Amino acid sequence: KVLILDFGSQVTQLIARRVRELNIYCEIHPYNSKKFDVNEFQAVILSGSPHSVRNGDAPHPDLSEIKGKKPLLGICYGAQYLVHFFGGKVGQSSSREYGRANLSYIDHSNALFDNINEGSQVWMSHSDTIIELPKNYKVIASTHDIDNAAFQILGEQTYAIQFHPEVYHSTDGKQLLENFLVHIAGLEQDWTPTSFVETTVAELKDKIGDEKVVLGLSGGVDSTVAAVLLDKAIGKNLYCIFVNNGLLRKNEFESVLDQYKHMGLNVKGVDASEKFLDKLKGIEDPELKRKAIGNAFIEVFDDEAHLIEDVTWLAQGTIYPDVIESVSATGGPSATIKSHHNVGGLPDFMKLKVVEPLRTIFKDEVRRVGRSLGIDDELLGRHPFPGPGLGIRILGDITAEKVKMLQEVDHIFLEGLKRWKLYDSVWQAGAMLLPVQSVGVMGDERTYEKAVVLRAVSSTDGMTADWVDLPYKFLQETSNKIINGVKGVNRVVYDISSKPPATIEWE
Ligand code: XMP
Repeated sequence: KVLILDFGSQVTQLIARRVRELNIYCEIHPYNSKKFDVNEFQAVILSGSPHSVRNGDAPHPDLSEIKGKKPLLGICYGAQYLVHFFGGKVGQSSSREYGRANLSYIDHSNALFDNINEGSQVWMSHSDTIIELPKNYKVIASTHDIDNAAFQILGEQTYAIQFHPEVYHSTDGKQLLENFLVHIAGLEQDWTPTSFVETTVAELKDKIGDEKVVLGLSGGVDSTVAAVLLDKAIGKNLYCIFVNNGLLRKNEFESVLDQYKHMGLNVKGVDASEKFLDKLKGIEDPELKRKAIGNAFIEVFDDEAHLIEDVTWLAQGTIYPDVIESVSATGGPSATIKSHHNVGGLPDFMKLKVVEPLRTIFKDEVRRVGRSLGIDDELLGRHPFPGPGLGIRILGDITAEKVKMLQEVDHIFLEGLKRWKLYDSVWQAGAMLLPVQSVGVMGDERTYEKAVVLRAVSSTDGMTADWVDLPYKFLQETSNKIINGVKGVNRVVYDISSKPPATIEWE
């Protein structure tokens, strides 16, 4: 496996995803973490960083167990690190070193550039640059502006590049990572969904034995894939609970429950809609809504878990991005924008051991694993849906009537996206019900009714997002259907805000 030492770059996770796409297992650890054993890794990658090596507080870990002993690739800060602290010179860059550049010189005898040719586009993003290499370093690629775009330390399997191979705009980036990991470090490309399923099922069997496990299904991809893996490992000792909080999409509870049963899962559907609505009565503040919904869920789930005799494990669909320790988190506090962190969401009165079958994999890998388990493509391709559901898409207080209204609007929107074959190209879509009324006219009558917002975004992980340029004809048809079909709504607007500064949800 591969160790990615993180110096805090925004795109460190992308390095890991590219490596995984090559079917090679890797882990990200903060450069200053003591929680891993270097000896377990066959190769190491140093990430980029917002720091400058020239500042006193720059990350400066001890690489004595790594450099010269294992194949090592420094990226951006990682490259400058290998120069600055080893006798070379890094200084402020005088020319522009952001964005696209092309390799103008390549040392074709060097395995790092196998199958990569002059002209290859690379993506730069640094304000420091390598001015002078230490003596035993050899330049292996340059761009027009940057002589030392890539180098090798002679006599070592140490390589470094100042550009970012992990980003999409470095067109041969994945090839370069493959060259390093496969051609140079000799790693096997055997981390596949099938091998993941095999080893995970075996591990789960071993870990759980004949004890019982309870798992909350949400209808989403993660909990479903986690459930199917556990089902394969322990069968009927897995007890799934699917709670209807009354804030799901139209018909979702019945249809998803049906689907789960068809998949052979040992699942119990619990309709707690009334309890949730009751707890939400009169609450307008978004964070208080989230808390009320979260607490109601814990109560319902706990009651159900108590009905399972001798259950000792709680399974969760936690995935790798929720687990990766971030450099900024160890260096200082980061602001919570919305209280939706599922990690550590375990109520302690349940006192169960936790099992998380997906904690080592990324979302795209969860889908690949799901596919190899034979889970329906439609289920795997579902848009993300927030835990508090329509509760945070109804601005202001929540009533059964408003939920019903929004369910209808949302249904028309999503069915339309599917019919127009737009659903799969959108990352997430949904509708919000606004707490405003506006004047309209229907027939000869003046109306004074609600306004709804349609939102469709593109994104890769929900951290940043942009609104989708849906066809006008589609919006026109959808708006007509909503206004004519949903009583109480007389106005439809489309949200054209990106994240940041807006968020995806309105609450
Ligand atoms: P925002 O609105 O923060 O949303 O841009 C980013 C992603 O997170 C989802 N989201 C939530 N998911 N509980 C969840 O499980 C929540 O409270 C919550 N709030 C937002 C949102 O749907 C989007 O995919």
